[in-house]
Amino acid sequence: MSEPVPPRRTLLLRTAEDGSPSPALTQAAELLRASELVAFPTETVYGLGADATNAEAARGIFIAKERPYSDPLIVHLPDAGQLASVAAQVPDMARQLAERFWPGPLTLVLPRAERIPAIVAGGGQTVGVRVPSHPVARALLRTAGIPVAAPSANRFMHTSPTTAQHVLADLDGRIAAILDGGPCTVGVESTVLDLTTDPPRVLRPGGVTLEELRAVLPQVEGPWASAAPETDAGPVRAPGQMARHYAPRTRLVVFAARGAAALAAMRREAMRAMEHGERVGALLADEEAAALSDLPLIVARLGPGNDLAEISRRLYAALRALDEQDLDVILAHTFGHEGLGLALEDRLRRAAGGELRMP
Ligand code: TXA
Ligand code: MG
Repeated sequence: MSEPVPPRRTLLLRTAEDGSPSPALTQAAELLRASELVAFPTETVYGLGADATNAEAARGIFIAKERPYSDPLIVHLPDAGQLASVAAQVPDMARQLAERFWPGPLTLVLPRAERIPAIVAGGGQTVGVRVPSHPVARALLRTAGIPVAAPSANRFMHTSPTTAQHVLADLDGRIAAILDGGPCTVGVESTVLDLTTDPPRVLRPGGVTLEELRAVLPQVEGPWASAAPETDAGPVRAPGQMARHYAPRTRLVVFAARGAAALAAMRREAMRAMEHGERVGALLADEEAAALSDLPLIVARLGPGNDLAEISRRLYAALRALDEQDLDVILAHTFGHEGLGLALEDRLRRAAGGELRMP
């Protein structure tokens, strides 16, 4: 990670959001085939892609992101038919889940096939695989004709990118190109499900909810256990699940509450900070903004409080927008544990450095 990255010009390639053929798409695919790094849109967040069968190409991802080599990359395929080319075993469970959720925001952790070099897997024997649903991602993967390893296209630990501009802000001059296919629609990363353990366990909550997974596999274990610190004895069971992650530069304080309790806690904390002369920002649902409008807060609205899909879609852009306001602290609250609430809480807690505050 200490390797210097020689400065280079990053191409910004625009293509239609529907994935229809374009010179930009062809060029992006050719760059991937030539072992270059190309950022591209998926339905969750922008990914930083490289040829997943080429160890040197994959190494470039870790260097560009300044990411530790122990943190495994997800391999992206254009369709489930190629699963057996990257996974050494494909259990029936995997086929069932692929049938139901692919293309879509679900990553399956399976035994790694030899075709995928160890560096892609963080040195381990498993591989995370997913088939993204974004039409641009699918067209790119089909055209490139290779499995593509892609983490989120941000600097290590920083907020994930949901637009090409976010990628540019983090990686300009460090990668060959960014394929701009418009903003991402899901907005939080895929759910990572480990199928190499019994019962299968969610390592990271994400775009496919625990309720949806359990409707197919009732025995799926929630992400609770993966909150165990990485310093635990024994092998790291959920590599890459850092306490601090997805984080803005500005200090973020997140209250584990919603509704009136959350607003009261945010008001108290805002007033305390302002007494110290601090500039305060807040992430709020649309209808909550009015309740705090008497305070001189810089507010980023996330959408209606009962629409967790919209809140997920806007979360990272809102965090990045507030991060550019030269604030001393950003206040936020969680959105419960149902549906996407689990992924939102996970991202907000890590963005705050690993701690939630009780109201
Ligand atoms: O939605 C997404 O998953 C996005 C888009 C680009 O596909 N990708 C993404 O990648 O979020 P990344 O690298 O930022 O996060 C992937 C996480 C890793 O940090 C790691 O925790 C977990 O997925 N992961 C990947 N492969 C794994 C494996 N073989 N075993 C355990 N965890 C794995
Ligand atoms: Mg990431």
